Amino acid sequence: MYSKAEQRELTDLSKLFLQEDAAVQRETEEKRLEDLRRIILFHEWRYYVLDDPIISDYEYDQLYKQLEAIEEAHPEWITPDSPTQRVSSDLTADFPSVDHLAPMLSLANSYNAEDLREWDQQLKRLLKWEPDRDIAYTVEPKYDGGSIALVYEGDALKRGATRGNGRQGEEMTANARVIRSVPLKAAFSKHGIQLAELRGEVLIAKSRFEAINKKRQEEGLSLFANARNTATGGLRMKDPKEVARRGLEAFIYTLGYAADGEGNDIIDRFDTHHDSLELLRSLGFKVPVEGFKTCNNIDEAIAFCHEWEDKRDAYEYEIDGMVVKVDDRRLQERLGSTSHHPRWAMAFKFKAKQATTRLLKVEYQVGKVGSITPVAKLEPVQLAGVTVSSVSLHNEDFIESKDLRLGDMVLVERAGDVIPYIVKAMEAMRDGSEEPIEFPRYCPVNDTDTPVELVREEGEAAWRCPDCLCGRQDLQRIIFHVSKDAMDIEGLGKQIVERFWELGWIRSIADVYRLDYDKIAELEGFGEKSAANLRASVETAKSNPVHRLLHSLSIHHLGKKVARLLAAEIDHVMDLAGWEEERFTQIKDIGPIVARNVREWFAREKNRELLRQMEALGVNMTPTDEDKPQEIADGPLSGKTILFTGSLQQMTRDEAKARASAAGAKPLSAVSSNLDILVVGEKAGSKLRKAQELGTVAIWSEEEFLAKVDGE
Ligand code: IVH
Repeated sequence: MYSKAEQRELTDLSKLFLQEDAAVQRETEEKRLEDLRRIILFHEWRYYVLDDPIISDYEYDQLYKQLEAIEEAHPEWITPDSPTQRVSSDLTADFPSVDHLAPMLSLANSYNAEDLREWDQQLKRLLKWEPDRDIAYTVEPKYDGGSIALVYEGDALKRGATRGNGRQGEEMTANARVIRSVPLKAAFSKHGIQLAELRGEVLIAKSRFEAINKKRQEEGLSLFANARNTATGGLRMKDPKEVARRGLEAFIYTLGYAADGEGNDIIDRFDTHHDSLELLRSLGFKVPVEGFKTCNNIDEAIAFCHEWEDKRDAYEYEIDGMVVKVDDRRLQERLGSTSHHPRWAMAFKFKAKQATTRLLKVEYQVGKVGSITPVAKLEPVQLAGVTVSSVSLHNEDFIESKDLRLGDMVLVERAGDVIPYIVKAMEAMRDGSEEPIEFPRYCPVNDTDTPVELVREEGEAAWRCPDCLCGRQDLQRIIFHVSKDAMDIEGLGKQIVERFWELGWIRSIADVYRLDYDKIAELEGFGEKSAANLRASVETAKSNPVHRLLHSLSIHHLGKKVARLLAAEIDHVMDLAGWEEERFTQIKDIGPIVARNVREWFAREKNRELLRQMEALGVNMTPTDEDKPQEIADGPLSGKTILFTGSLQQMTRDEAKARASAAGAKPLSAVSSNLDILVVGEKAGSKLRKAQELGTVAIWSEEEFLAKVDGE
């Protein structure tokens, strides 16, 4: 249908329009209109036919809006083949088509509070109302699945159909009948309704989607891209038994048509939209129960939309926005519809989580134990409200598994508070100019004249620089040493360490304890007071417990836990220098890899010298009370395992774990059948779902947890 060259041309052109680039601004209106039509039709083809979109929904909407704006200004230019002149369609030849009882329209989109306020004002103008008179709205989640229409006649489910092109849909009654939340019988006749058509969205729960993919992975099958495709694909499968296995669910959001025994349309018997939802709920349909709210005015509606945007990731179903609907049916009727959407409803789209952009180059960073991390530099792109211009590529295997190349168009995603990552390269967009990413064999960070060959140990994903000559590994170690997790030196963040490094003031960890505070006081942005505060923090850190010190040294594989285990076994940090490997492995939970790494670290004179210098500078090397093992046999949570999830409000994760340990509980890091207690903070997600599915885990709020550990 489209050649590669055409696809590239249209993709590049899309970019120009999305960036509102000067090149397209200079075009005549007519030329822009023509371009936009071509681009939009192309993206519809990618989306509907190939099922492989190369721009995000948000970007598509932006292009569509530009087209609408031009057509609005020049209605005489509208042609029948313009994308605005048809409602998008999912019709295929596989299922018989049926006519809907009333058209199934689409929705107009808005992206922020201003858009919604403007729409509210526009409605008042149409209604000839005073600008300050309130319109009541019902607000519901905008479910991201596949839409369906269900027809009930004489209380029985007669027909199920997809939305199709809005007027006609595909008949899939057999599939609708296996969706558990679709009642086969519902007592419409009690309410004088003989024939009804309901509209809703078919979805799959996020946990169900994950479980299906897990099973597919075990069976060596290809994975589904997302919950949405799994639901829409499921709806259109040939074998209803297969459909049943997917575990689809249907949320009903509208009573689209209702007629009495004589065939009279009686939809206006319902005063409000929320009344009709309540009726459907009472008849046994799944309506957006937690999600729907009737608001007195647009400000309340906006607040509710924002509330849900925050809850979105923790919600069990995929939603891509909210739908704001004029609640009063009579007002709905007065406002009417365009050929595309009702004027009385508006989607409030959440910020896009996905976007496409170009991978420009790969840079490399060295970490504190010498691991080399590739970082992709991207053409800057807006994603869920922030500009993203670089993402981690983790390691060589990641690059290979995604077959990423320099110059590729890539799909990036940022879900909730998760850091952005590359989902895939858009292979269809390649023109042959893309170049393979050659992972370096010599340290790419090193700027000395002597190259250092990288090593990759068995079982490790990362290439490492084994012998840093340029000092940048030391810089990373210093940054880690002073960080919150390690020695926790307040007022000495990453940027300040980097600045001192540039000035040549710190080259090793020991230099942290040799800072010249007079010189610091003279630095721009410092002064006497900050310098004195910094000195105080450094002094405090000197008496830290030994487990913090051990952890702060960036010894490969020596994490917090091992640090505690070791601290409990020694009288002085230097004792470890005399230990053989077996002495380490005698300790429960310390394996041979950790043992070898710690031993090798202490075997190096350079490292022992560092410790001697630190001790001479006053850094504590002998275990304190905090280093003593804390076996609490009779605490309130003794013998229990515990896990924290979501964001806690009254304490940090580390504090929570410390309090749990102090109460005798053992913190775990994942939900498993060994878990006894899950403490859930705000925005808890998959861990909560998994625990609920297991059914054996006690689920506590933060308050319940605090009440227990405080012994109330
Ligand atoms: S109302 C008459 N409400 O979004 C108004 N639609 O982008 C038509 N959708 O095709 C739709 N959740 O499939 C409405 N709570 C909700 C919805 C919803 C999801 C879908 C629907 C529609 C699409 C439009």
